[in-house]
Formats: sequence, C-alpha cells, structure tokens
Amino acid sequence: MQTSDIGFIGGGNMARSLIGGLIADGAEPQRLWVSDPDTEAVAEIRQRFGIQTCDSNTALADSVDVVVLAVKPQNVHSVCDEISAAVSARAPLLISIAAGVRVAALSRWLGNDVAIVRTMPNTPALVQSGMTALFANDQVSEIQHSQAESIMRAVGVTVWLDDEAQMDAVTALSGSGPAYFFLLLEALEHAGTRLGLDAGVAQLLTLQTGFGAARLALESEDDAAVLRQRVTSPGGTTESAIRVLQDAGFEALFDEALQAACKRAAELADMMEKS
Ligand SMILES: NC(=O)c1ccc[n+]([C@@H]2O[C@H](COP(=O)([O-])OP(=O)(O)OC[C@H]3O[C@@H](n4cnc5c(N)ncnc54)[C@H](OP(=O)(O)O)[C@@H]3O)[C@@H](O)[C@H]2O)c1
Repeated sequence: MQTSDIGFIGGGNMARSLIGGLIADGAEPQRLWVSDPDTEAVAEIRQRFGIQTCDSNTALADSVDVVVLAVKPQNVHSVCDEISAAVSARAPLLISIAAGVRVAALSRWLGNDVAIVRTMPNTPALVQSGMTALFANDQVSEIQHSQAESIMRAVGVTVWLDDEAQMDAVTALSGSGPAYFFLLLEALEHAGTRLGLDAGVAQLLTLQTGFGAARLALESEDDAAVLRQRVTSPGGTTESAIRVLQDAGFEALFDEALQAACKRAAELADMMEKS
C-alpha cells in the first residue's frame, strides 16, 4: 500500500504521464496532489485522475512527503524560492525532472539539507516507455531512493548515476536520443518513397521495423553488433547498405553529434546555475 503523499508542482505533460503511470501501478489517487497556476488545467487533472489539488505550490510542499518539480527549467528557480520555507519545515524528498538544473543549484535555492533527486527522463515517458537516469544527493535516505525510483518507473525504465557530471552524457544519449531515432525514421521513410513505395506503406514499414528492432534488441541476450551481423549476409542487400553508411562515417558522425549535445548540456546547466 502507498504510504507517502506525492505532490506535483506543474501539471503539464510530464506530470500527467507520471500521475497516470502511478495510478496504473496502483497508487491511491487521494495521496497524489498537483498545483499549477492554470486553474483549468488543474480542474481537468482532478476530473481525469481524481487526485487532490492545491491552490498554491507552498500549500502543496506543506502537505506531501515527496515533491516532484515538474515545471519548465526556467521556472524552477522561482518555484524553489516560493517553496523553500515549506520544504525546510517539512523536509520532503524533492525530485526534479527539469532538464539541466543541477543539484548544486537546487540546494542553493532550497537549502543545503534538502534531500534531492535529480532525474533526466525522455519524451517516450509520455507513453510509459521512457528512460530516466537518476542522481541523489547525500541527504537522500534509502527509503527515499526507493520512492524516487518507483515514481520514475511509472513511466518506464530507470538507472542510477553515481556521478552527477554524467547527466550531460545522459542528456546527449537518452534525453535527446528520441530525436535521433525520429530523424532516422524520417530518412528511411523518404528513402523508401524514393524507391517507389507509397508514403503510407513506407511509413508503416519504417515504424514497425524500428519497433521490432528495438524490441528484439531489448529481449535478446545478444548485443546490437551481433544482431546486426546476423542480418548481414556476406554479399547480401544489408551488407551493401551498411557499407555505404560506414564508408560515409556513420559511427564517427554519432560520436561527434553526442559530443556536441553533451557539451551543450553542460553549457545550458552552467547558464541555469547562474540564473
Ligand atoms: N516532456 C518530456 O518528455 C520531458 C523530458 C525530459 C524532461 N522533461 C522536463 O519535465 C519538465 C516539465 O516538462 P513538460 O513537458 O511537462 O512541460 P509542460 O507541459 O509545459 O508543463 C509544465 C507545467 O508547469 C506549469 N507551471 C508554470 N509555472 C508554474 C509555477 N510557478 N508553479 C506551478 N506550475 C507552473 C505550466 O503552466 P503554463 O503552461 O501555464 O506555464 C505547465 O502546466 C521540464 O522541466 C522538462 O525539462 C520533460
């Protein structure tokens, strides 16, 4: 049975996914809370999920055991200023899902004693298929570790990081990663139509192939390289295509792309920390 009250500050896309996922996992709606300045959005969430609502972020932080900061990164600082007194008094676990906001900044805005878990989910969380990396500061207890993990598991798979600096690499890989796959899907669809397939057929072939390949890779004990070799017969069609990609520097391009994303993630976090 759920023993903690969980409150979401910001009732947008991610909060709704997490709330939906938690309820599907058996969370009691009356132990979930949300606050958001948009009263229509709050009413819609209450009607859809039957959860509790708060008139202010401070009242929410005053009522729950876990606060999930689910506002846009640029709103995090002001929300922290607003709730810092309530957080000091009640000492809830603070989970941030805001991209690029470091624990050091959150601690500065909320107080050094606050137990904080910084997470980096990705957009497939919106369909409960997300990948979330988590990092906890030293104030987070073992129970709070489990609480944070079970909340983020409601929208997909989780992995803990020992070193927060790795969050930039996570952002480059799984945070931005869905866009790389979407780009590949677009490229395959267009290439298929240029080979004479109907657009709808090319799209279906692409999407189901992407889904099937990901599922096979997830369920197989073999790694991606082995699975690829298995469909690449010498002198066959796949080998012809892979040769074109590798001759054009496909892998090196991804190295460069991820390094650029990782560098940008660090720059954005630096800017956020100075805000
Ligand atoms: N969407 C994703 O897949 C994804 C992936 C990784 C990380 N994230 C992170 O998740 C966070 C939320 O993203 P989202 O896509 O859910 O954004 P969103 O849909 O814009 O939700 C944010 C919500 O917070 C509300 N809000 C604004 N100021 C507030 C305040 N002072 N107090 C309480 N609520 C306030 C917004 O209201 P208004 O619209 O009226 O401003 C909006 O309803 C972001 O920090 C983002 O970096 C999202």
